[in-house]
Amino acid sequence: MAKRFENKTIIVTGGASGIGAACAHLLAKEGANVVVADLNQKHADKTVAEISQAGGNAAAFAVDVGDPKAVESMVQFAIDRFGGLYGAVNNAGIGGPALPIGDYEIEDWHKVLNVDLHSVFYCMKYELAAMEKFGGGSIVNMSSILGTNGFSTAPAYVASKHAVIGMTKSAALEYSKRGIRINAVGPGFIRTPLLDENMEQDDIDALAELHPVGRLGKPEEVAALTAFLLAEESSFVTGSYHLVDGAYSA
Ligand code: NAI
Repeated sequence: MAKRFENKTIIVTGGASGIGAACAHLLAKEGANVVVADLNQKHADKTVAEISQAGGNAAAFAVDVGDPKAVESMVQFAIDRFGGLYGAVNNAGIGGPALPIGDYEIEDWHKVLNVDLHSVFYCMKYELAAMEKFGGGSIVNMSSILGTNGFSTAPAYVASKHAVIGMTKSAALEYSKRGIRINAVGPGFIRTPLLDENMEQDDIDALAELHPVGRLGKPEEVAALTAFLLAEESSFVTGSYHLVDGAYSA
């Protein structure tokens, strides 16, 4: 069977860890030229080395997605390195402090919105222009189940993830006419360093119980949906939000 992304260049932000790394591995396995774009250069290099070892094609790019100039350079790097741009997974994100809104520091609020929301605008701004030039493609913006539900101790994260869905829909209304599809993915809680580094085991166990399937999700399960949305097989799917959440939101 033909590989789904042969000769197609796809950027994965936050591609060095967790969900992003699973996406990078799967897309490369399916023939894509993957740009692993991440703040953590060391982890990005490691992900690229693993992909190369498995016979895939990838390059690392150090980027802070909260910096529009750096994001513009990331898109240019993808084009220079691989000669085009077909797709992107705008996935880099942070959780921020676990505090209710009244205790949230203003500085933290701005930091989380910059990395989790403004970055998606910066990425789409430069990706869309490039993709249009190279004949269209598909973008996936990583939202969350918290893109439609609240969470008392993550107000900035929740606000960002809700806004990512609105931005996805608005972009799709325009760019569907220009050969580019744009969707948002809403994972339930997924076992990644984002959870492991910010939560106690008891709290992680309690989160697992909120999912009727009785466990947390795996990064590979989010990558499978993401790849479907990037591929030609989802050619009539655009402007929507897709859950992968073990019935959390049901
Ligand atoms: P992770 O912490 O394992 O990986 C995130 C990656 O993003 C890291 O490699 C980190 O270096 C990178 N990153 C952070 N800030 C950056 C910046 N300013 N510029 C460039 N790269 C940056 O996290 P995980 O869990 O894989 O999350 C990925 C995305 O999925 C995030 O947007 C997160 O909000 C979303 N998500 C995660 C869920 C979970 O339960 N793990 C659930 C729903 C959504």
